[in-house]
Amino acid sequence: MALIIPIQPAGAAPAKHPVRVPAGATLTSLPPLSVYVHVPWCVRKCPYCDFNSHASPQQGIPERAYLDALRADLEQSVPLIWGRQVISVFIGGGTPSLLSAAGLDELLAMLRACLNLLPDAEITMEANPGTAEAGRFRDYAASGVNRLSLGIQSFDDAQLKKLGRIHDAAQARAAIEMAQAAVGRVNLDLMFALPGQDLAACLADVNQALAFGTEHLSMYHLTLEPNTVFAKYPPELPDDDSSAQMQDAVEDALAQAGLQRYEVSAYARPGARSRHNANYWEFGDYLGLGPGAHGKLSFHDRILRQARHRNPESWMTRAMAGDGSHVAESVEVQPDALPFEFMLNALRLKDGVAATLFAERTGLSLAAIAHQLEAATARGLLDPDPTRLRATPLGWRFLNDLQEIFL
Ligand SMILES: C[S@@+](CC[C@H](N)C(=O)[O-])C[C@H]1O[C@@H](n2cnc3c(N)ncnc32)[C@H](O)[C@@H]1O
Ligand code: SF4
Repeated sequence: MALIIPIQPAGAAPAKHPVRVPAGATLTSLPPLSVYVHVPWCVRKCPYCDFNSHASPQQGIPERAYLDALRADLEQSVPLIWGRQVISVFIGGGTPSLLSAAGLDELLAMLRACLNLLPDAEITMEANPGTAEAGRFRDYAASGVNRLSLGIQSFDDAQLKKLGRIHDAAQARAAIEMAQAAVGRVNLDLMFALPGQDLAACLADVNQALAFGTEHLSMYHLTLEPNTVFAKYPPELPDDDSSAQMQDAVEDALAQAGLQRYEVSAYARPGARSRHNANYWEFGDYLGLGPGAHGKLSFHDRILRQARHRNPESWMTRAMAGDGSHVAESVEVQPDALPFEFMLNALRLKDGVAATLFAERTGLSLAAIAHQLEAATARGLLDPDPTRLRATPLGWRFLNDLQEIFL
């Protein structure tokens, strides 16, 4: 999925321990670079979803115009990452599996032609089970996709209906089999704390996912997002105690099956972690291409955040104009915002990160946040181990409180 990296909320309270940073931090090396490509169309919009996704036009998605605009976007972006190796690509949405096999092949060929894509790069594509076809999955794999991420959500037909999904449980199962036959690595997205769901139903979904011998699961707590149908007409959802119970039971069941929770929502067998998502959490760089895509790019003396225009038509027209106007926002991250941005990501990882990564990725010394580290450790939220930046079990449970210390 497209990870939205939140920045400091407007009107946030002033920090208790101001960050002491020199102006214009310097990076001694550039972080690993990933590429995110956004495909903004879906068969229809799900009532809970606030991603930049739009119901596909009746005549089908404008694939030709999209690929032309993507090429234009890419060509205008290349100077920012010239010569750098790309470790992973994530084609997310929306529903990228609406792309034809030929369209996806063209997309990957243009990335290879313009970028220095490592031969063993992880190339993930998101797919909706309602758009799955065995032949097309095989073609995607032949073009270079080596990881598929399926939006399963639940294996309960009644639940899938409530969620407005375009597929039923039988189609979800068939899609998993097709994906596993086509590529070695498959992630399944499940949601929990669903309308009317109890613990038994939640665990039944998890057990069905495990029955496929799945190597990677993303478990998302259903949230009511503003400006969605569910926000306007909220369904009855399990209370906080029940959903916390589900979270704990899911973690136990998956651990017993050999899938460790390694990030807030991600569980994997050894060796099956997502390299692309790990790069976000380790504060790596990513170029975001396509409507609404976000990017973070480091240079020796600054870190840039970019956001493309969200509306697909507007992004396509602007990208084709070739004047850079498809980039709606391009801002330099101010050094005093870097500690919070770094911690917001790194502390999502259960094992945290090596303490040395902070200086490597932000160009700041750890001494700049000594007060915050002390305060977080004193409150029992941060592990006192000086070699790692890692939340304690308490800190992980109250992750927002821990992250806010670095605001
Ligand atoms: C871009 S979608 C995945 C691919 C495809 N669009 C699909 O839905 O099948 C990413 C995932 O985000 C999760 N998601 C979307 N909206 C959510 C919400 N409001 N609360 C929790 N998870 C959500 C779903 O599990 C979904 O599969
Ligand atoms: S199919 Fe996926 S991206 Fe599209 S509306 Fe549904 S959850 Fe959102």
